[in-house]
Amino acid sequence: MAEVAKSQPVKVREYNRFKITPIAGALGAEIHGIDVNNLDDETFDDIHSAWLQYQVLAIRDQDVTPDQQKEFGRRFGDLQPHAFNAPIDGHPEITEIFKDKHETANNGGRWHTDQHYRTEPAKMTMLFAHEMPPHGGDTCFANTYLGYESLSDGMKEMLGGLKGVNNGDSKKHPSGLTRMQRQNAGISTMEQKDPGDEVTISEHPIIRTHPETGRKALYVGSHTERIAGWTDAESEPLLTYLKTHNGQLHHTCRLQWEVGTITMWDNRCCLHLALNDYHGYRRRVHKLLIKGDKPF
Ligand code: SIN
Repeated sequence: MAEVAKSQPVKVREYNRFKITPIAGALGAEIHGIDVNNLDDETFDDIHSAWLQYQVLAIRDQDVTPDQQKEFGRRFGDLQPHAFNAPIDGHPEITEIFKDKHETANNGGRWHTDQHYRTEPAKMTMLFAHEMPPHGGDTCFANTYLGYESLSDGMKEMLGGLKGVNNGDSKKHPSGLTRMQRQNAGISTMEQKDPGDEVTISEHPIIRTHPETGRKALYVGSHTERIAGWTDAESEPLLTYLKTHNGQLHHTCRLQWEVGTITMWDNRCCLHLALNDYHGYRRRVHKLLIKGDKPF
C-alpha cells in the first residue's frame, strides 16, 4: 500500500496585495488581480514568498511579450538558456513548447525536474501560455518535500549518503533514442541544439536541502538514470520505487491552463509532467529558466 504523506506544506502567510487560492492540498495556488508588468517591490516580495510556500503559482490574465517575460524572470535571478532546446528568434533564453494539430508526441511527459543534469540546475521554470486546447493539456506537479517526508526513517538514512547520476540525453528514454535521433525520426516536437561545452550529466544528492526554506526534498526524476557508484541493475529497482513514490497522486496538483496564464514552479522541491491528452489541437507556451545553486 502507498505511504501517505505525513506532513502538509505549512500555510502560514496571509497575502492582501492579491487574491490567492490553493489548487490542491499538496501544493500549488493561483493568483488573480496583479499585472506582472507593473509590480511594486512589496507585491513582488509577496509573490516570491507565496512561490516558496506553494511551490507552484499560476498567475492568471497576463499579457507579456518575450522581453517582458524575461524582465519579470530577472526579478527572481539570472536567466539560464536551455542546454538542449533551440531558442526562439532573438531570445536565447526563451524556448517554445509547441504541439501542432497533426502531432502526437509531446514534450515533458514524464515526471522530471528541469535541468537536473546541469551543475547548477534551474531553480525556477516560468511558462507563459500563448495557445491552449479547449480541454486537456494540463500540467501536473508533485511535491517532493512530501516525497521525502513520507519515506521511512530507515530509507531516509540510507538515501542520505547517495547521489543520483542525472543525464540530459539518456538512451534510457522510453524511445531508446537520443534527443537528436528523436528529432530526426520526427518523434520530438522540440527543435534541439548542440549543448556545446555545457555539462549535461551531473551527480546530485538524492536528498537535497532547499537553500531558501531549509526543507529536504527527494530529488529524483526521469533524468536520474543511476545511483553514483552502483550498477544499472542495482540502481534500477530503487530508482523505480523512488520515482513512483514521488509521483503518488496525493503528492500532486493538476494545473488547468488558460491563454494568458503565467505558471512558475520551484524545481528544487517539485517535479512536473505535461499531459498529452489533446491530439487534434494546438498548444503553445514560452518557457524561461532561472538559474539555481549547486544542490546540497
Ligand atoms: C516542461 O517544461 O517539461 C513542459 C511543461 C508543459 O508544457 O506544461
